[in-house]
Amino acid sequence: MMKDKISTNREGQVESMKSYYAFQAKIYDATRWTFLYGRNTVLEHIPFPADAPIKILEVGCGTGVNLRKLGQIFPNAELYGLDVSGDMLNQAEKNLSDYEERLTLLEEPYEKGTQYNGQFDVILFSYALTMINPQWQELLEQAPNDLTEHGVVVVVDFHKANVKAYKKFMSSNHVRLDGQLVPYLVKHFDTKFCRIKTGLAGVWDYMMYVGKKK
Ligand SMILES: C[S@@+](CC[C@H](N)C(=O)[O-])C[C@H]1O[C@@H](n2cnc3c(N)ncnc32)[C@H](O)[C@@H]1O
Repeated sequence: MMKDKISTNREGQVESMKSYYAFQAKIYDATRWTFLYGRNTVLEHIPFPADAPIKILEVGCGTGVNLRKLGQIFPNAELYGLDVSGDMLNQAEKNLSDYEERLTLLEEPYEKGTQYNGQFDVILFSYALTMINPQWQELLEQAPNDLTEHGVVVVVDFHKANVKAYKKFMSSNHVRLDGQLVPYLVKHFDTKFCRIKTGLAGVWDYMMYVGKKK
């Protein structure tokens, strides 16, 4: 993995991601399925009927792997994917060409004060929040404003590292593995599904979460 300087202000975080994914976008789909666990499983716990005409936003949609799966599970859903990396979105556009009529891809950061005003039934963060540091909490504070009354937040991500050297390695690749997401989610959303599971050979744990807006 390419290493670069880690910035913590908003502009720095966005620029780090753009430069990190300029190369990673090319190898993302070929490599990430081997260790980004739980992505398909968590989507099966979204509490809407399959034929519901819902509106789904994925924050940090990357190459569109989850939006593709969501499009299959919810054939009447409108799909929105937002990401700061144009390179990842270019891949997403190719991967999601069948969904053109009900897909919107936006190249912008999700942040406090965005104006989506209660329009989404589902907001998904898949392996994005542990890379958005230290702003991840602001994004979760924002999500309820952008959810409908019965909307849900769905999160799948790394939970924590069980091996110090791995935690350090991931931190140098922008990922924070301190078990920070679950306590926040459980406190601020009405939990419908929450699992922490062991990842590769116990080196790290990952988490899956579905919670309704309170
Ligand atoms: C590990 S990838 C996950 C991609 C996809 N969600 C998946 O599960 O395969 C993290 C994605 O989050 C995006 N990202 C990072 N910071 C972001 C921010 N502040 N706003 C929106 N997207 C961001 C990155 O550009 C990258 O595409």
